[in-house]
Order: sequence, then C-alpha cells, then structure tokens
Amino acid sequence: MTPTDNKATLSFSNGSPSIDMPIYKGTVGPDVIDIRKLYGQTGMFTYDPGFMSTAACNSSITYIDGDKGELLYRGYPIEQLAVNCDFLETCYLLLKGELPNQAQKKEFEFGIMHHTMVNEQMSSFYHGFRRDSHPMAVLVGVVGALSAFYHDSLDINNPEHREISAMRLIAKMPTLVAMAYKYSIGQPFVYPKNDLSYSANFVRMMFSNPCEEYVVNDVLVRALDRILILHADHEQNASTSTVRLSGSSGANPFACIAAGIACLWGPAHGGANEAALNMLLDIQKDGGVEKIGEFVAKVKDKNSSVKLMGFGHRVYKNYDPRAKLMRETCHEVLDALGLHDDPLFKIAMALEKIALEDEYFVSRKLYPNVDFYSGIVQSALGIPTSLFTAIFALARTVGWIAQWNEMISDPEQKIGRPRQLFVGATTRDVVPLAKRA
Ligand code: SDX
Repeated sequence: MTPTDNKATLSFSNGSPSIDMPIYKGTVGPDVIDIRKLYGQTGMFTYDPGFMSTAACNSSITYIDGDKGELLYRGYPIEQLAVNCDFLETCYLLLKGELPNQAQKKEFEFGIMHHTMVNEQMSSFYHGFRRDSHPMAVLVGVVGALSAFYHDSLDINNPEHREISAMRLIAKMPTLVAMAYKYSIGQPFVYPKNDLSYSANFVRMMFSNPCEEYVVNDVLVRALDRILILHADHEQNASTSTVRLSGSSGANPFACIAAGIACLWGPAHGGANEAALNMLLDIQKDGGVEKIGEFVAKVKDKNSSVKLMGFGHRVYKNYDPRAKLMRETCHEVLDALGLHDDPLFKIAMALEKIALEDEYFVSRKLYPNVDFYSGIVQSALGIPTSLFTAIFALARTVGWIAQWNEMISDPEQKIGRPRQLFVGATTRDVVPLAKRA
C-alpha cells in the first residue's frame, strides 16, 4: 500500500486536541485512513458493526467494484476467466498470482489430482452422522478432522507446509463433498479417478455407482467447472474474514477452513443458493408466475421477515457479474438438457424482471447476486438442493486458503482482536444467594 501526502484530521467539538491520520492508497479502489494510533492518541475506538466502512487488511488477490459490478481475480475480469480458463487454472492464479503456462498447469494438475484420496479412516466419521444430516454439518466435521491426519505439515510458518496443506485441501474437498452426498443416499463411496479432470472426477464421484459403467457428461462438467470459477474468491466476505480471523491465532489451515465452512452455511451468505431455490419452489407450489406479485408484496412488507433470496449484496450496488454469467450458464445447461421450459427458470426470470422494475429494489440497489441462478443450474445438473452450499464451499476453499496464506505471509499481521462499546452493567457487588430477592 502507498502512503499519500493527504491526511485525515479528526477534530472534536469539545475542544479535545485534533489528531492527524495518514491516508494510504492501493492500486485501485477506495483509499484508507490508518486509524491504528487512534485509541492510543484519543482513548476512543471507531464503531463499525458489520464492518461497513472498515478495511481489515491489505490484499492483492481479488478486487470488487460494487458500483460498476466488476470482479477481478488477480486483475483478470471474471468474465474472461470464466470463458478462457478452467477451475484449476483459476486456483493456480489465486494461489500464485499469475496464470500458469502449459508446463506449470500440467504440474499443478498432477499435484492436485494425486492428492484426491482421503485416509480410509475418514469414512468412519461419515458413519457417525445420521443419513439425513445436512451436508454442511458433515463437511464442517470432516474438514476439521483432516487436521488429525496431517501432523507432518501443520507448521503454519513453514511455507512448504502451507503449500502442501493448500494442495491437500483443494484436492480433497471434491472427494469429501461427494462422500457426503453418497452417504446421504445410502450408496457406496466412489474413489477418485486421477486420470480425469478435476470437475469430471467430482461429477463421477457424485453420480457413478459400482453397478454400471459411467460416462461423464461434458455439458455437466463444463457447467460445474464454471460454477466453481465463479465462486472461487470474493475479497473479505464473511467466511473469508472468518478464515483470516481463525488463522490469525495460528490455528492450522484445516481448522480455519472448517470455520469458514461454518460461516458460509448461513442463509445470508453461502446458504442463500439453497434458500433461493427453495423460494422459487415455494412460488411454484403457490401458483407460479401469477403469484410473483403477491410474493414481492410480502418481501416489501416490513412486518414480514421475507427476503428475496439471491438478491442484494453488501458490496455490489449493481448487477453481480457472476449472476449474469450464471444466468448464461442456466440457458446453456437447460438448452443442452432439453429443459427449455424449466418452470423454475421462468419464475426466476419473471421475478428478476419485476424486482428490477420495482422502486423498493431499485431504491435499495438490490440486484441478483451469484446465488440467484446457481440453484437452478445445479438442480438441472442433478445436484440436490441441500448440497448447493457444500459445492460453494468446495469452490471457495481455494479463495479461503489463498487469503489465509496471504495473511500468514503478511509481516503486518497480528492476532485479530476487535474491541467494543460496552453498554452493560458497571461494577456492582454480589448479593449472597440467601439475601437475593
Ligand atoms: C453471498 O460478501 C460477499 O461477497 C458474499 C458473497 C461471496 O461470494 O462471498 O457474494 C456470497 O453471500 C451473496 C449474498 C447472498 N445472500 C442473499 O442473497 C440473502 C438475501 N440478501 C440479504 O440478506 C442482503 O442483501 C445481504 C445480507 C446480502 C446484504 O445485506 P446488507 O448489505 O447488510 O444490507 P441490508 O440488510 O442493510 O439491506 C439494506 C436494505 C434493507 O432495507 P431497509 O432497512 O433499508 O428498509 O435492503 C433490504 C433490507 O431490508 N434488503 C432486502 C434484501 N436485501 C437487502 N430486502 C429484500 N430482499 C433482500 N434480499
């Protein structure tokens, strides 16, 4: 980050001495006011619940321009990556900062595809869950459990340990997610096949069974690979911030990623894709397109807690570029699978049109986000609704681990420990139980 000759002066109406704070600029995006000395100089904290105006770190991985609706991974627009690259190229880019050449891509792919198996004992963890457990509950458990198997590489200050942990996590997430799915439907786990591509291997582990030959469907693989690219990273979102905060204490990467999975599960965050599809199914059940007006009225009614899931974003105050790409993928997949008249897609497009013309949404700059269409695509691909967020976690693992690695390597990093504005009881004496009213 670059110091500027601009500074922020904080003055107080009660005559307290004003203080100057340096302003730094990045390569693009808002400048920052360095408030690190504020408490020492004024005895006061800043107050920013939800971190609406707070930069928690400096990063060179992902940049979002919320007003323009732009998303860059290491400077490359998501629209170009989605068309010109596959997911493992995108992983290499996020981890190392540059796109791989052919030799580098081949070596990286070999490394990932030869770490896809999990220790055979991991299957015992699955058998401890009910068959109808939510896949995210299973994933939080089994990813955290990975740290019980890799005592040889848990020194977070050793770059080689960080590298092998990153490879293991990226390589094993598809296996763990597919195992959660197979376990939920009572089918045997399918071992990875290392001669397949990353996404083809995942599709095969999900949908093949030992009783018949399975031919991977290229439409399904391409669509899934694009879904993974679109979900790979997104600057300091809630789950990435969770991973960073967990990692700042020195926790091992597997535990940090398990914490990120737990945070992603929430319906306001990664759980929105599952919630958005269930919302479309409810509208369909209630009568379909004709009932959209009624549903939108409920959303606008302050007394109802109904939200238009898959709409709105803390940063994007314009169309989420990933939503546009996801809608295109929707068209391609539904056409390829002969599902042109998919009723849910029709409901989604009608709902989007109505919302984008309605003052309530326009005035609040609420646009479709990545979760609005992703459920329709995944549903068309045969992925069960309850697995959508697990696939989001599979994709986001590379972003989480890239951000974690950047934080650990940052000489400025310290354990994260926010303060508070205390509004509770001040000091008071305990009354013995016998004397309490
Ligand atoms: C992801 O951060 C990331 O980058 C996340 C993510 C990533 O890749 O990591 O992009 C992935 O999580 C996408 C977001 C998925 N979540 C949803 O689709 C759930 C529905 N969306 C909302 O819950 C909400 O829009 C958030 C949580 C996404 C953003 O919330 P903010 O920024 O805190 O905004 P807000 O709740 O303060 O809303 C501002 C206004 C409020 O109305 P008023 O109080 O001003 O009258 O807009 C309203 C909100 O009630 N509003 C909505 C709405 N989202 C916001 N009203 C109806 N439906 C919605 N979806």
